[in-house]
Amino acid sequence: MRRLPPSEATGLRTGARHSLAEVYRPADLVVLGLGVMIGAGIFSIAGEQAATTAGPGVILSFMIAGIACLLACLCYAELSSTMPTSGSAYTFTYVIFGEVWAWIIGWALILELQFAAAVVARAWAAITVGAIEHFGVRVPAGNLVQDVLVLVILVLLTGVVALGARVGLRALWVMVSAKLLAIGAVIVVGVTHIDVANFGDFFVPPKTLATAPATVLETLIGEGHAFGWFGIFAAASAIAFAYIGFDIVATSAEETVNAPKAVPKGMIRSLVLATVIYLAVALVMVGMVPYTKISPQTPLAGAFRAVGVDWMVHVIDVGAVLGLTTVILVLIVGQTRVLFSMARDGLIPRRLATVSRRYHTPTRVTLVIGLVAIVLAEFVPVLTMQQLVVIGTLFAFAFVAAGVIVMRRRMPHLERGFRVPLSPLLPALSLVATLWLMVNLRVLTWAWFALWMAFGLLVYLVYGRRHSLLARPNTPARPPQGRHRR
Ligand code: ALA
Repeated sequence: MRRLPPSEATGLRTGARHSLAEVYRPADLVVLGLGVMIGAGIFSIAGEQAATTAGPGVILSFMIAGIACLLACLCYAELSSTMPTSGSAYTFTYVIFGEVWAWIIGWALILELQFAAAVVARAWAAITVGAIEHFGVRVPAGNLVQDVLVLVILVLLTGVVALGARVGLRALWVMVSAKLLAIGAVIVVGVTHIDVANFGDFFVPPKTLATAPATVLETLIGEGHAFGWFGIFAAASAIAFAYIGFDIVATSAEETVNAPKAVPKGMIRSLVLATVIYLAVALVMVGMVPYTKISPQTPLAGAFRAVGVDWMVHVIDVGAVLGLTTVILVLIVGQTRVLFSMARDGLIPRRLATVSRRYHTPTRVTLVIGLVAIVLAEFVPVLTMQQLVVIGTLFAFAFVAAGVIVMRRRMPHLERGFRVPLSPLLPALSLVATLWLMVNLRVLTWAWFALWMAFGLLVYLVYGRRHSLLARPNTPARPPQGRHRR
């Protein structure tokens, strides 16, 4: 239950454990946010949910998930404006609730970031193969080509992250601009082919009874559904995957110039922009074709084909390939920053917190993360794990919302660059909305999550509890290299 003193987290002026160079400016944070948010969620999961679970109501699902994420984003904004560190929710929890909870959140963030990187790398390989085939090139059947592509993209992006934030940042600006252009084309061209009849009865298609209850909520009421309002809520939870990323902006706080002001702005702006883009794309997608005809595998391309605009398929392919590339890139960056913070605090081996003198980045931990992502993406059926990624993320959201309320009471005088309006009402609403999304996830997802967390707790008891810096007060707080500034 020992807690990290706030002065260790509130910034360089207080002598905190900060040790990374400041490289990001406010506009970079918006690019980081859009880079990591716009990806598999909008290019594939949205269509899959429209076809199987929510119909045109997927637009409402995007709104519900968007509101829940906006509330969570305000809470993240307040805490990261007070504690601008690379550990994000992990460090907030360390200061507010204590070490074992911090470990639990760190472990949940690993589920979010490490697994998401593997999931998106797999999706990237499938989309890339599809894109090559759309150009008329025959790709050999079987998984070999995709396996090789997964390896190539993860090795490449891990290398880029290891070489330093600036290298990645330049590439990111270019790729995010290109993906926004592609998405812009989807919206502009698609809107001219909307048939309002496809929206159905105010977006909510009649509910059908599914075979067995799948989500926690359905299990509680003893009935499984597809479509109808239950379908819309279940889809909202799955679609939360698309919003994953604004929280990752918080992990760059330690490397951001004037973080207490810049990070909240970057996070909120990127989330609002992404929400508008998602709603527009979803509207176009379900407006172009009846939801019963949406192909779950290639929803956007299929919709354009159905209305006879075949050339858009290539635009979507380019957007999706670049889009998912930036998602993987920023996920790896986020994961390195969280693990780096945990290592710096001694909860995982401190060697992982070394910062390369040459590249000014935590190179060692980056290589470990790249390797784990490769193993996961190659040997585990990660595409079935999207909801597991979502539950890890939502779990952290819940602690951050509760953290705002507790911290306002316990540490009212800490400097806050941003304050959630109407606190404690909005943080409490954020907590309720997050829990609502969580009960709309599958029972199976919860079971796997419980297993993962139990395993994590075991790791803490065996290693972290004894090696924590707080358990060894005489160890120097900074890793050997000291601080690098440019
Ligand atoms: N939000 C990211 C995506 O949709 C993880 O791919």
